[in-house]
Amino acid sequence: MAKKVASIVAKREEMQLFIANCTPLRGSSIIPLPSFTMSELMAWNQRQNITCGDSSLPAMSEEHVFETFPLPAQNSYPRRIAVIGDLGLTRNSSTTIDHLSKNDPSLILMVGDLTYANQYLTTGGKGVPCFSCAFPDAPIRETYQPRWDGWGRFMEPLVSRVPMMVIEGNHEIEPQAAGITFKSYLTRFALPAKESGSSSNFYYSFDAGGVHFIMLGAYVDYNSTGAQYAWLKEDLRKVDRTVTPWLVTAWHPPWYNSYSSHYQEFECMRQEMEQLLYHYGVDIVFSGHVHAYERMNRVYNYTLDACGPIYITVGDGGNIEKVDVDHADEPGKCPSQGDNMPEIGGVCHLNFSSGPAKGNFCWDRQPEWSAYRESSFGHGILEVLNSTYALWSWHRNQDTYKEDSPGDQIYIVRQPDICSPSTSLKVISHFNIYSH
Ligand SMILES: [Fe+2]
Repeated sequence: MAKKVASIVAKREEMQLFIANCTPLRGSSIIPLPSFTMSELMAWNQRQNITCGDSSLPAMSEEHVFETFPLPAQNSYPRRIAVIGDLGLTRNSSTTIDHLSKNDPSLILMVGDLTYANQYLTTGGKGVPCFSCAFPDAPIRETYQPRWDGWGRFMEPLVSRVPMMVIEGNHEIEPQAAGITFKSYLTRFALPAKESGSSSNFYYSFDAGGVHFIMLGAYVDYNSTGAQYAWLKEDLRKVDRTVTPWLVTAWHPPWYNSYSSHYQEFECMRQEMEQLLYHYGVDIVFSGHVHAYERMNRVYNYTLDACGPIYITVGDGGNIEKVDVDHADEPGKCPSQGDNMPEIGGVCHLNFSSGPAKGNFCWDRQPEWSAYRESSFGHGILEVLNSTYALWSWHRNQDTYKEDSPGDQIYIVRQPDICSPSTSLKVISHFNIYSH
């Protein structure tokens, strides 16, 4: 399965099919990839037969039928967008994927930490909630390819027919000799970096119907003086909201997180990039990393704001490190400022300067920007209904065999008339957090 994971990328100017070592079939003819365009796909009513593998060997896969994205248009949307993170390969992962498959997605957004192959051998296949605590003398140096292959076989029935778009998490770093990192991730997935004007496979964008997706890299330079920020700024500037009204972004570690685990870990990234995303009216931000579910109210700079994005954490796919249960606002659960250090990048921890948490690193109650949180494995489904309404549902694993009963469900409503870029330009002061 190593090179079968498929991604369809729709870009307004030039749309192509990206499938690593997969070949589209039309009748009995094999069509060379460079000549295979989205226009041809559309002529086939968005369904395409593919086969994968090394065509020089008798090693090609069975033929699969693959459903492609709708063309960018404000009245055309993917039927159901599944969002998962921190999946791994456990019994919980299996339940998540079974449940997700029953929900019949037409696009899967995978927000990082895919296989946990980077700690499989050291932990004896059992995993530990805190790797550095359990193995202080064993820095993570694994890149165990049979585990990657096993995960690929596990995912094949789903991703051979549904496009899955991925972004890297910290478990994809897999540091090796000579400074090599992210080798498995970069080798096993075809990413539309070049097609979206990015010079790095760690961040890219794509369109699917009336949704423009931006996938950001948290483990590469995200500073406002860097290449990723410059690319992001240009990508945002080019988005035509009359064609793709919805703007959805995703990266692995959440900016807003009230669990003890990874609390304020990527505060530096938030301080660098939040203003830009807010200015362009990002509608939804998906992240993983924290192994629990949390949905935020619309927020900007830790202040409730009707024009801020809705942040949703779904790092609860079912991995080997277990679910996170502690909230930073519970007695004795506020982490020390040295507890949550990112693998790459610095820390910018802050104490709140006003409001109920004034002067403190942690709140003494669930923060008002945190709308709903629950420690269960699961996945989410986003159904974009039109340019104004989308229905978000979080499906817990324990509800897999019940009638449809989402653990959390809301309508997300766009209000472009009151939240256009011209009315949303506000300046972040790093020293005036949570001011009313
Ligand atoms: Fe992670």
